[in-house]
Amino acid sequence: MSNVLTPPSILEILQKATEYLARKGIDTARLDAELLLGHVLGLERIQLYVKFDQPLQSIELDRYRVAIARRGKRMPVAYIIGSKEFYSLELAVNPNVLIPRPETELLVDWVLDYLGSNGGRKRTNIVELGTGTGAIAVSVGYTALHKGQEGLRIFATDISREALQIAQANVDKWQVGEVVQLYQGDLLQPLPWELAFQVDLVVSNPPYIASEEIRGLAPEIREYEPLGALDGGPDGLAFYRRIYDESRDFLVPGGHVVLEIGHGQGQHVMDLARQYGYTDIELHHDYSDKERMVTVKWR
Ligand SMILES: C[S@@+](CC[C@H](N)C(=O)[O-])C[C@H]1O[C@@H](n2cnc3c(N)ncnc32)[C@H](O)[C@@H]1O
Repeated sequence: MSNVLTPPSILEILQKATEYLARKGIDTARLDAELLLGHVLGLERIQLYVKFDQPLQSIELDRYRVAIARRGKRMPVAYIIGSKEFYSLELAVNPNVLIPRPETELLVDWVLDYLGSNGGRKRTNIVELGTGTGAIAVSVGYTALHKGQEGLRIFATDISREALQIAQANVDKWQVGEVVQLYQGDLLQPLPWELAFQVDLVVSNPPYIASEEIRGLAPEIREYEPLGALDGGPDGLAFYRRIYDESRDFLVPGGHVVLEIGHGQGQHVMDLARQYGYTDIELHHDYSDKERMVTVKWR
């Protein structure tokens, strides 16, 4: 065991950090301890086990202690390390943006399939509402560009100026500036007017938690993720109403709206689509068989 004279090894410090995080009620204590140590040491998780008996330098130990203390206060790992992988792309994140979730990749898959099916379009205009980190816009733009897609333009908006700074960093990092343009403002309001009736597809993962339910969420979400990225109004559906309503001034006939939804919201979001005059309404489930996405067509 380590004492004052011998600094702890990777394995010893991992053990201690894991026990500490577990005592704080964190289910993923070992994984988180490894991710944070890997971050501090600049190593992949697997390399921690290759170098398990390597002693930590005191500066590394100090940085690791700070990271573990933050995690002990339930700060999400992604905010501590400042990045999150989404659609195989490492994205910058900070507490001004929602941490992109793997479920949202379902929307990216749908949009990429749609682009692949083309339908003879020379130009495709996509609008993303509430882009946050830019996860959807950047991964669609990056993948489409690398597949040789031409004529694609993605217009992504967010009401949060701070979120857009992170989105811009991700656009720059993945060099998708030629297809992805960012606009600050309320939903479709900041978009150029030339886009009226020119948009082929509107995609969004809007805030969809009912206001009352936010205090029941895990501390990682409730205390750290931006409220403006979560709060979907009294019934959680406020953004769906507005998106269906306001998108009609921008969509081409036959254009699509692709929306992430919370589990249990499927029927409501489909009913709303009907009320606003959309057709071809489909509910999609994610890999855990939860209601996750509604796709509709503008007649
Ligand atoms: C659930 S997050 C989604 C972030 C990102 N698209 C993703 O999937 O990871 C919702 C985003 O909508 C933004 N937002 C909230 N109200 C908005 C509004 N009225 N207009 C534009 N964006 C808004 C929030 O700032 C937040 O970035």
